[in-house]
Amino acid sequence: MSDTLEATLSDVELPPSLLAFLACPTPDAWVEWALKNPELLLIDHAQCEKKAASTAMSLLYRYVNQPLLLTKMSQLAREELLHFEQVVKLMEARGIEYRHLSASRYAESLRRHVRPQEPDRLVDILIIGAFIEARSCERFARLIPHLDTELARFYRSLVKSEGRHYEDYLMLAQHISSDPIDKRVDFFAECEAQLIVTPDTAFRFHSGVPA
Ligand SMILES: [Fe+2]
Ligand SMILES: [Fe+2]
Repeated sequence: MSDTLEATLSDVELPPSLLAFLACPTPDAWVEWALKNPELLLIDHAQCEKKAASTAMSLLYRYVNQPLLLTKMSQLAREELLHFEQVVKLMEARGIEYRHLSASRYAESLRRHVRPQEPDRLVDILIIGAFIEARSCERFARLIPHLDTELARFYRSLVKSEGRHYEDYLMLAQHISSDPIDKRVDFFAECEAQLIVTPDTAFRFHSGVPA
């Protein structure tokens, strides 16, 4: 982990393993972009929570022969839906209208690299899940020092749960793979970092930097 990454995150404690997992910190330009778009931030955040629940649900349907995965994904889906409700409630209280937003390139670009054969497919999906959770966790932490008390408190609670989700996804990926997953993790770390540091078209929770 770089000194810069450690220094910029000093306000909120993130697990060192999570910081080491991500190949780059969120650029300041994204944080500034987010602060200029508080409504989009919350709407897209709500979308992300809903999608996280739906990804967990789809794994529950597809991999019925994996007991540990079923337990973890069932817990995860419930937790993400609870987060979804919390964001929607916050939006209502702030008079933010929930409207449809196009998805950012982030998740789709990562999933393009998923290998087609099982169990490689599942291992890759789980590793990508770990990156999405870890990046969300890091971004919540980055935003906290700039937010109002209510939102900062909420995001602090999310840092804890998304940190756990990242660990669960990574543990499941290793549990399912018969080989070490390090090389695959390194590969996705590089892809993920590229999506974080390169210019992006629209602001979203997982977007790159402003073009
Ligand atoms: Fe969540
Ligand atoms: Fe999560």
